[in-house]
Amino acid sequence: MVTVSSVLAFALYETVKTLLFPRISIIASHVITITVAGILAFFLSRYALARYNSALTEIERQAGITKEANRLLSAVLASLQEGVVIVNNAMEVVLYNTAATRMVKLPDGGQESWAHRSGDEGEVRSGLRSGAREPQSEESPSLSGRPPRLADATRDPAINEAFRRAAGERLLVETRVELAGREARAYQLQVAPLGSALVVGVFHDITELERLEKVRREFFANLSHELRTPLTAILAFSETLLGGAIDDRENNVRFIEKLHRHAERMAELISDISDLSAIESGGLKLAFGPVLLIDAVSEIAALMEPSAAERGVTIAVSVPADLYVVADPTRLGQILNNLVDNAVKFNRQGGKVTVSAEEKEGQVAVSVEDSGSGIPSADLSRIFERLYRADKSRSRKVEGSGLGLAIVKHLVQSHGGEISAASEVGKGSRFTFTLPVALAPSQKMGAAPQSIQDAVPQGDSTAVLETRRA
Ligand SMILES: Nc1ncnc2c1ncn2[C@@H]1O[C@H](COP(=O)(O)OP(=O)(O)OP(=O)(O)O)[C@@H](O)[C@H]1O
Ligand SMILES: [Mg+2]
Repeated sequence: MVTVSSVLAFALYETVKTLLFPRISIIASHVITITVAGILAFFLSRYALARYNSALTEIERQAGITKEANRLLSAVLASLQEGVVIVNNAMEVVLYNTAATRMVKLPDGGQESWAHRSGDEGEVRSGLRSGAREPQSEESPSLSGRPPRLADATRDPAINEAFRRAAGERLLVETRVELAGREARAYQLQVAPLGSALVVGVFHDITELERLEKVRREFFANLSHELRTPLTAILAFSETLLGGAIDDRENNVRFIEKLHRHAERMAELISDISDLSAIESGGLKLAFGPVLLIDAVSEIAALMEPSAAERGVTIAVSVPADLYVVADPTRLGQILNNLVDNAVKFNRQGGKVTVSAEEKEGQVAVSVEDSGSGIPSADLSRIFERLYRADKSRSRKVEGSGLGLAIVKHLVQSHGGEISAASEVGKGSRFTFTLPVALAPSQKMGAAPQSIQDAVPQGDSTAVLETRRA
């Protein structure tokens, strides 16, 4: 086509030239032809070059888009907490992210890794090649450069079966898997078909979810137990009184007193639970201000003195006299009350309780230390749970429902602080909580601060407080 057009154009050109210059010499004719051919070649090459350049720009643009898409996909995969493993129909791992290396035995590429060189994965393979890394051969199950096989990466039959079923039946398969490691973890594995040649498996870590569910179940079991105990006593005493003991002059007052004590116990329990749910749902309004710590501690120490004396326990206070904290005074009293109450009631006869405080980097750490029986390490991580009581047999003898520390923990957190416990069985325990340090009211030109921002020193402490509260 091009040849015919060129020949026709040349014939036309020759005809026009002969008509225009019938007597032209051969040399002049050649000169004209060469000039015209030169001009044409110039414009044609410019046109071709422009087309070539735009095609090149388009290719570069496409490559840029692909690279950017790969970069984004790599970043998304790397940031996922969920382990992602993609295998082909031959059960070879073609792609996985770093999180997946915690669940199956695949080399840790430090980013999402490419582990395949052949196959028909089409878009996925070419789309991810640029951000890919070959697995380290010494760690890799595929020493020969072959992609790792899923069966080599994990021996877990549930995982292998889920991938096989999803690949074979081309449907979504869900299963729960438990993997033993330094600490056993539970995963919800979802495997879904991806196109016609791949399947993608996503591991969701459900360990914490299951733990919370267990805590919730135990809470309700404990709650009904805690409520049933005083209720049974109330029923028993009231029935005894109704059955004639009301006329028993020697015992009726004692029975009514017991009835009252158990009713009081139930009321306390219910008030603690409603306190706790108000704190947890954020419904508790706190009135922050600068509180002179020594005053708050001394008040609680004095309040606890009678019950401490009953057990022969002494309470010592070692708090700097000029230390102010940002707190709601009532709630700070509740925190200290619970901690000192525990330190006294779980102490030994003739033991000691020390409340101390020190300031460090805009925070005040308050410690309540006792010389009691201590808390076994298995219980230590759970004592802040609602209704949890360590050493049930001993705790049953001591009054309490196991709500105190749960309330304390939430109150400390709503002040922007943290609480921790350390204990040694047979020696005693130490509970330490932090609160933001406050400027003394006199340092603020005598103005009594009303808000938490007024109360904390300017600069770092405010930032710390706001960060924690967020
Ligand atoms: N200082 C301590 N020494 C030893 N064991 C402690 C101490 N503080 C707390 N515990 C253990 O932690 C458990 C939970 O404490 P928490 O204050 O939440 O409940 P409680 O004191 O039993 O009841 P409540 O505070 O609701 O009256 C206690 O039952 C006890 O077993
Ligand atoms: Mg308590």
